Amino acid sequence: MRRRHVVSAVVAVFLCWNVIIYLILMLRHPGKVIPPSMELDILDTGIQNQLKQNLALLSKLQSLRNETGNKPKTHSPIVLPDRKGDVHDLSKVVLPVLLIACDRVTVNRSLNQLIRLRTTKEQFPIIVSQDCAHKPTAEVIQKYVVTDNVVHIMQPNQTNMELNKKDKKFLGYYKIARHYKWALDQVFLKFNYSTVIIVEDDLDISPDFFEYFSATYPILTSDPSVWCVSAWNDNGKNGMVSEEAELLYRSDFFPGLGWMMERKTWLEIGPKWPITFWDDWMRHQDQRKDRVCIRPEICRTSTFGKKGVSKGLYFEKHLKHIKLNDQFVAFTKKNLSYLMKENYDPWFKRLVYDTPEVTVAEVMSGSKKHLKALRVTYTTKEQFKATAKKLGIMDDFKAGVPRVAYRGVVSFVHHGQRIYFAPKPDWQKYDIKWT
Ligand SMILES: *[C@@H]1O[C@H](CO)[C@@H](O)[C@H](O)[C@H]1NC(C)=O
Ligand SMILES: *[C@@H]1O[C@H](CO)[C@@H](O)[C@H](O)[C@H]1NC(C)=O
Ligand SMILES: *[C@@H]1O[C@H](CO)[C@@H](O)[C@H](O)[C@H]1NC(C)=O
Ligand SMILES: *[C@@H]1O[C@H](CO)[C@@H](O)[C@H](O)[C@H]1NC(C)=O
Ligand SMILES: *[C@@H]1O[C@H](CO)[C@@H](O)[C@H](O)[C@H]1NC(C)=O
Repeated sequence: MRRRHVVSAVVAVFLCWNVIIYLILMLRHPGKVIPPSMELDILDTGIQNQLKQNLALLSKLQSLRNETGNKPKTHSPIVLPDRKGDVHDLSKVVLPVLLIACDRVTVNRSLNQLIRLRTTKEQFPIIVSQDCAHKPTAEVIQKYVVTDNVVHIMQPNQTNMELNKKDKKFLGYYKIARHYKWALDQVFLKFNYSTVIIVEDDLDISPDFFEYFSATYPILTSDPSVWCVSAWNDNGKNGMVSEEAELLYRSDFFPGLGWMMERKTWLEIGPKWPITFWDDWMRHQDQRKDRVCIRPEICRTSTFGKKGVSKGLYFEKHLKHIKLNDQFVAFTKKNLSYLMKENYDPWFKRLVYDTPEVTVAEVMSGSKKHLKALRVTYTTKEQFKATAKKLGIMDDFKAGVPRVAYRGVVSFVHHGQRIYFAPKPDWQKYDIKWT
């Protein structure tokens, strides 16, 4: 921003200077309406040379800004043909952000980051949907309506659900599901957007948050086996990810926590939306239907909210150790078509199963430290859980799918070494009895 101002100031100064020189020369010949043609030519050439120099200077300043600015304000339009041959100019794709809020006045922390990091408000309009009718939070959000074109909508239904005794403690989850349903209906049915990026009010985002979603948009829309792009890696703790900030994966596990979905998916799942635990419901095969999400090696969101419906212990144990990416990866300038199923599957299978197989004891002892990557095999649910605990990765399943798994394979880093925790090469499908 500062550099842009400098550029403008320099241009303005030079333009003024040109005008002044011109006027001075004109005044030296007050009697003549037109100066002699010789003088005029000299003057012309002078001005043109000056303009050329100015343009050269301007371009120098621009490239200087390009090199040093870690947040490019403008993208040269990247044009990627998708499978149908359609072409996306990614700088023209509008990706609205739906921020789900309730009663946390610290929503300004999330909003500030979204506003600071988005390229333009036209490309990334922000809608804050607020439940809970919490006045102090509403007042915080209202300030952004005035200054940053944020749209503030309020979930109107504040009734409590009638729950039996054993479900009473889950009231918060029922309200969240109701809020999501209402808010997503607003985005897709009222505002008629074709895509949405969903975040919650307790998320920090990485510098390339918007770049990541822009660049993966063509994958989302052209690969029918991809139904979401997520900013989250469930095993993305400090020390458990590599430094490869540009590395992305396909994941059979729906991660949530900053994710993008298309309207057509909402038209499919919205009408049968559940009354509670919506994320586990989405993970169920009845909804997922073998579709996958794109997820990063290093998380593009992390949560700062300790207080919340699902947090507390889970926050202390897992969420607070998540590594938030701090680099800007120019994803829109990269060829991401390796993520398309037909490219990814054969490549990923080779990558994993060409990796030497070792025992978990060998991983732990460091006796295979000289190898870049190792593969550890599991065959039963019990074996998965016991080994996962030893290696420090998430050990739970949802609808039979381990967190972050693709074709059963969990990829993570252990003491600097890439580990593929994988089923046998002849793996066919998940067993929903693994819970
Ligand atoms: C600076 O970057 C912008 C956008 O990426 C590009 O249009 C422009 O040509 C670049 N300028 C120079 C001098 O590299
Ligand atoms: C959010 O607002 C509160 C109260 O106005 C302020 O103290 C805090 O610094 C703000 N946080 C950020 C990240 O701007
Ligand atoms: C409000 O929410 C309750 C519980 O989810 C539901 O039963 C009721 O129909 C809703 N009311 C309206 C007007 O949508
Ligand atoms: C919603 O957008 C679609 C294109 O995405 C368009 O065909 C349709 O007419 C729009 N509907 C309304 C009600 O604006
Ligand atoms: C992009 O990568 C795919 C393989 O993943 C390759 O087939 C294609 O040729 C690449 N496209 C360009 C423009 O490099």
